[in-house]
Amino acid sequence: MLDQQPILEVEDVSKSFGGVQALKSGSFKLSRGEVIAIIGANGAGKSSLIKIVAGVYKPDKGHITIKDTVIDPMHHNVGYMRQMGIEVVYQDLAIVPNMTAPYNLFLGRIPRKFGIFVDERKMRKKTEEVLAELKVKTVQSLSRPISEMSGGQQQSIAIGRAIAWGKEIVILDEPTAALGPNETKEVERVVHEIKDRGTAVILISHNLEQVFRLADRILVVHHGITSKEFQKTEVTIDELVKAITLG
Ligand SMILES: Nc1ncnc2c1ncn2[C@@H]1O[C@H](COP(=O)(O)OP(=O)(O)OP(=O)(O)O)[C@@H](O)[C@H]1O
Ligand SMILES: [Mg+2]
Repeated sequence: MLDQQPILEVEDVSKSFGGVQALKSGSFKLSRGEVIAIIGANGAGKSSLIKIVAGVYKPDKGHITIKDTVIDPMHHNVGYMRQMGIEVVYQDLAIVPNMTAPYNLFLGRIPRKFGIFVDERKMRKKTEEVLAELKVKTVQSLSRPISEMSGGQQQSIAIGRAIAWGKEIVILDEPTAALGPNETKEVERVVHEIKDRGTAVILISHNLEQVFRLADRILVVHHGITSKEFQKTEVTIDELVKAITLG
C-alpha cells in the first residue's frame, strides 16, 4: 500500500549553467514504496533534476521538501541530502572493483575495533544480512574482490549499500545501462525487493519496457520541463514515445 503523504516533494526547481538552462522547471512528488521513472530525450534535463534532489546542484529557484522538512538552500548539499535519507546509485562509479563486497558496502563507514582494527567480522555479517534481505545469491567468497561477481550482483550490492543504512529514497540513474539481460533481470528483482520494504525509488531509464516493469508512475522531462506525468496503468509505450518527443 502506498502511503499518501509524500516523502519527497519537488516544486518548480530550475538550474542554469552560464547561458545554458539545463532545467527550467521540475516538479514531482514521491510516496513511500513508490517507484517513479523519469524519462526524456538526451539532454532533456533528467540528470540535472535528480542531481538537484541528490544535493549535487543547488537549485536556482524552487523548493524541496523531505518528510515535511523544507530544505534550506543553505544546507543544500550532498552530505545533508544523504542525512535526510537520499542515496544515489550511479550507472558506474557505484563500486570499487578491487575491494571485497563488505568493504564496498561499508565504503566511507569502515567500523573499527578499539578505534584501530577494521572490524571485518561485523562487516561480513552485515553484508550477509543485506544480501539475504535482497535475496542476492553469490557463489564467490566475500573475501574476493567484488569484480569477480557478476555485474548484476555488483550493482545489487551498490543498491544494498543504499538501503543498508536506512535510506528511504534511492535514486537510480540508468542502473542497468552497462548490464546484459540476465544481470538486468537481477537488478530489476532487487528494485522490486527494496520497493517492497518501503523504500521509494527514482529511476532514470531510457528503456521503456524496463520502465513498465518497474515504475508505478512515469514523469516525462521535455526541454527542461517536467511536462507530463502518467500512472503506469493508464499509458501505452506509444503515448510515452510521443510525450518524450513532443512534450
Ligand atoms: N554542468 C553543466 N554545465 C553546462 N551544461 C550542462 C551541465 N549539466 C547539464 N548541462 C546541459 O543541460 C542540459 C540537460 O542535461 P542533463 O544531463 O540534465 O540531460 P539528461 O536528460 O540527463 O540527458 P541524458 O539522457 O543524455 O543523460 C543539456 O543540454 C546539458 O548539456
Ligand atoms: Mg542524464
